[in-house]
Amino acid sequence: MKIAIPLERRPGELRVASSPDVVKKLSALGYTVVVESGAGLAASFSDWDYQAAGATIAEDNKTLYLDADVIFKVQRPIICTEDSELALLKEGAILIAHLAAKSQSEDVAAYAKAGITSFALEQIPRISRAQSMDILSSQTNLTGYKAVVDAASVYAKAFPLMMTAAGTVAPAKVFIMGVGVAGLQAIATAKRLGAVVTAYDVRPIVKEQVESLGGKFLEVDSAASQDAQTSGGYAKEMNDDYKLKEQAAIAEHIARQDIVICTALIPGRPAPVLVTQAMVESMKNGSVIIDLAVEMGGNCPLSELGKVVTKHGVTIVGHENYPSRLAADSSALYAKNLFNFFLLLSAPDSPQLQIDWDDEIIESTLVSKGNLVMN
Ligand code: NAI
Repeated sequence: MKIAIPLERRPGELRVASSPDVVKKLSALGYTVVVESGAGLAASFSDWDYQAAGATIAEDNKTLYLDADVIFKVQRPIICTEDSELALLKEGAILIAHLAAKSQSEDVAAYAKAGITSFALEQIPRISRAQSMDILSSQTNLTGYKAVVDAASVYAKAFPLMMTAAGTVAPAKVFIMGVGVAGLQAIATAKRLGAVVTAYDVRPIVKEQVESLGGKFLEVDSAASQDAQTSGGYAKEMNDDYKLKEQAAIAEHIARQDIVICTALIPGRPAPVLVTQAMVESMKNGSVIIDLAVEMGGNCPLSELGKVVTKHGVTIVGHENYPSRLAADSSALYAKNLFNFFLLLSAPDSPQLQIDWDDEIIESTLVSKGNLVMN
């Protein structure tokens, strides 16, 4: 059974779907692993590393996909162009990747038309058994870290308090908006760098988590926010009355902040607007906003996708695909998540597939099966 690991071709994607560590495990299980030449270079894995782990190297993706039974990818394959990756997959192949299946239903229809069985890793349910497969958590955690490091590199002042013979450097004030996986890591990172950290989320349940990391929680309306969380732990969209109170509290607070890290998202909806133009105008010259929600429309309407801009004296960073900015670590963790998921599809004692189609994790992630669109 042949597993193929290609070079990712979507613009700006530096990650790779498997690491030499994981290839070694797959080879030990008896799978034949083929890696496209150069697939791991941007993530610091050489062809030689993969070969030493038991893979063979394919010179191009045509050779790679020839007879491949299972394809491990980071991003969904390119379709409908002369460089179509999908056209190279054999009928009956299994595709496992972040397929963005909910927003890319036409692509899912194309997988079904091509007879590809596909699993969307972003749909792994957030249950204990699936934690080791949760690509959203592993990638977003690194994003929270990198956002703070990026902010520190753009900010023209230091983060920690420094008392020197030449004078005192005040600590940076960092405000984290949205305390999910990215926000928690951003708080921890900013604290480690010596900043004074405050954070805000519509879900009041995170207050304790913020405080346990040494941050201070910004309260808006604790009574109204009791109903802000879905049973799955995600945020709900709030009513207009709450939004007005939210804006007033943020406006008052943000004018005194140096760095704002925006991570607020609502599943299936545009990102909530939390930092208005008036708030940006109220910030000090040289302040920095990192808008991690920019791909979903942004928490700040002044942020621009894929750009670093300066508006009203504030640097606003809108990088796309944050995990790709830490390609070595994000690839290594993604590879482990994908491997743990693949073990669910694999027979326990031989290198072949044995899929329990009724398993909750399989059911949640399966988006095409043969010629059928699922889920
Ligand atoms: P996310 O990426 O969907 O959203 C990020 C944060 O933005 C969330 O904390 C959300 O409450 C917040 N937000 C939304 N609207 C906001 C607003 N108007 N103002 C301020 N903040 C706002 O969330 P993520 O990181 O995916 O985490 C979602 C939930 O899943 C959390 O409860 C987390 O603890 C839980 N989780 C569970 C896991 C598991 O059990 N395996 C693994 C990872 C996360």
